[in-house]
Amino acid sequence: MTVPRFLAAKRSGRKLTMLTAYDYSLARVVDEAGVDSVLVGDSLGMVMQGQPNTLPVTVDEIIYHTKCVCRAVQNALVIADLPFPVNHLGVHKTIELSARILKETGCHAVKLEGGADQASVIEGLVRAGIPVMGHVGLRPQNVLMMGGYRVQRDGEVLLADATAAQAAGAFGLVLEGIPSSLAKQVTDQLLIPTIGIGAGPDCDGQVLVLHDMLGLTSGSVPKFAKAFCNLREIVAGAVGRYCDEVRQGSFPDSQHSYE
Ligand code: KIV
Repeated sequence: MTVPRFLAAKRSGRKLTMLTAYDYSLARVVDEAGVDSVLVGDSLGMVMQGQPNTLPVTVDEIIYHTKCVCRAVQNALVIADLPFPVNHLGVHKTIELSARILKETGCHAVKLEGGADQASVIEGLVRAGIPVMGHVGLRPQNVLMMGGYRVQRDGEVLLADATAAQAAGAFGLVLEGIPSSLAKQVTDQLLIPTIGIGAGPDCDGQVLVLHDMLGLTSGSVPKFAKAFCNLREIVAGAVGRYCDEVRQGSFPDSQHSYE
């Protein structure tokens, strides 16, 4: 997958698939299973580190996890999230840090939360040759301002953000936490692909946090986070059987021992 092919998918009506990944082993599985794009999201703060939100994630941590993912991925487009507050530090600082992420990891693009307010940053990055995906609607890095994660329903703001991100040169746009009808409206108006998460069925593609879609996340998950299997149960069952066999002395057996 390349940025031009990503854009072409919208023109040909082919739905785009995206999942997050943060480590070598799962990134390899996800890539080999045929996903179009892997996002090293700042959601790693929650699913990898147990943080309450994405705010504590640092550039160095994004670089570490993106390096692990890039070693695994052969086909998918790898996108690294800009962690809070990188894209609010001015155009030059954002270019400097994004270029560092690209150079040190080998990823193909960055994603930043923002639309109209981030137009000059997106423009600067694109002029520097750094492909950018925007992220509008519910912006998790705004969690403190929102007082929680709230569905965003202001159609005017959303359309202004989306069109500004496109005009600034973004090659794609995550639409998060918005009503399906608004997501359809935005998707119909844009030439660049929209990637929905909690944005209904009419986006040009979908993204989910890998641990949510594998059923690995503990505690409450958002309404849109469909678990396609129950990996938590599968892993817990396997660990339980391992413990039983070791305690009973049936593992290791001769098949798993050297002569
Ligand atoms: O950080 C992340 O994983 C994301 C996606 C859920 C869109 O931003």
